[in-house]
Amino acid sequence: MKEFAGKVAFITGGASGAGLGQAKVFSEAGCKVVIADIRQDHLDEAMAYFKEKNAEVHAIQLDLTDRQAYIAAADEIEKVYGEPPQLVIQTAGVNTFGPAESSTFEDYDWVVGVDLDSVIDGLVIFIPRMIKAGKGGHIAAVSSWGGFLASPGCTPYSVAKAGVNMLMECYWSALKPYGIGVTCLCPTNINSNIGEAVYTRPEHLQNTGYHVNEQTIDHLRQIHAQGMDPVELAQILKKGIEDDVLFVLPFTDDPEGEMRRHCDTLMNYVTKEGMQRIEEETRKRREAMASASGPAGFPQNDVGWGKAKSDLEWVKDHFEEK
Ligand code: NAI
Repeated sequence: MKEFAGKVAFITGGASGAGLGQAKVFSEAGCKVVIADIRQDHLDEAMAYFKEKNAEVHAIQLDLTDRQAYIAAADEIEKVYGEPPQLVIQTAGVNTFGPAESSTFEDYDWVVGVDLDSVIDGLVIFIPRMIKAGKGGHIAAVSSWGGFLASPGCTPYSVAKAGVNMLMECYWSALKPYGIGVTCLCPTNINSNIGEAVYTRPEHLQNTGYHVNEQTIDHLRQIHAQGMDPVELAQILKKGIEDDVLFVLPFTDDPEGEMRRHCDTLMNYVTKEGMQRIEEETRKRREAMASASGPAGFPQNDVGWGKAKSDLEWVKDHFEEK
């Protein structure tokens, strides 16, 4: 997709962080934008911004894990703009951190529900509408570079994002004959509000195996404050859509090299010698992380961020609350 003016763009998580950056960039590019988000306060703030800009933006308060509500939102877009979106960007996402072995059913249900299941739902909802409209278009999802790297400190997230990567690759070839492009944005750190994602965790999925409280949330806020600017990120996504690139890696000037190094690492997993190399690298990385300081030092924090809940004594690095 190269022309954006006059096109309807639908953005999930469009009221905050990366999604809000996209709403700004695609609105400036002339799109009629619809933002959907679970947080009404984020929607209100975003709409105040767009009102001031006199931009054509419509907001829908939506929990993406409610399939019927998601279908109703797609109907609402057609009612408001008279046609389905030609640009669909599924950006909403959540994360929470703790050792894989302490994860609960609810940790998986919440993170995979928002980060993968709702993306699948979005594709099933919008693709038939886009094909029937016969105008082509583009589908994008915000995954993560973490969807390529296995992170035992946020396994539900890694799994969900790996699923999104595979999903988008499948649809990339499936949708070619319909003139619908597919792009999967895989960022690293973004300056956003994802540190407080647990505020949107539903009541029935509250049971977690991780140590999460206001201090760990604040620790995460500090990490994300160092991340990439959402508008800059959205401009990189726009270029990826224009160039019809499947996996956009916005954190590097050498995406091929980055992916090649990742593939080289994966190749170690298939031989005994390779496994020894991986173990050695993992040991070195653990040591480096343990001695790192500041917000980016993963295990070295005095608030227990990334640790198991203190009462899970069977987890090796469970957090002992002081
Ligand atoms: P953010 O928290 O600022 O924005 C995400 C938005 O999604 C929020 O407004 C939130 O209310 C909304 N949301 C959460 N659950 C929802 C639900 N059930 N229904 C509807 N809306 C829901 O976070 P950010 O960082 O902008 O996240 C955007 C995407 O970027 C996510 O998919 C995230 O996984 C991904 N990402 C973020 C990175 C980071 O460092 N922040 C790094 C790599 C990827």
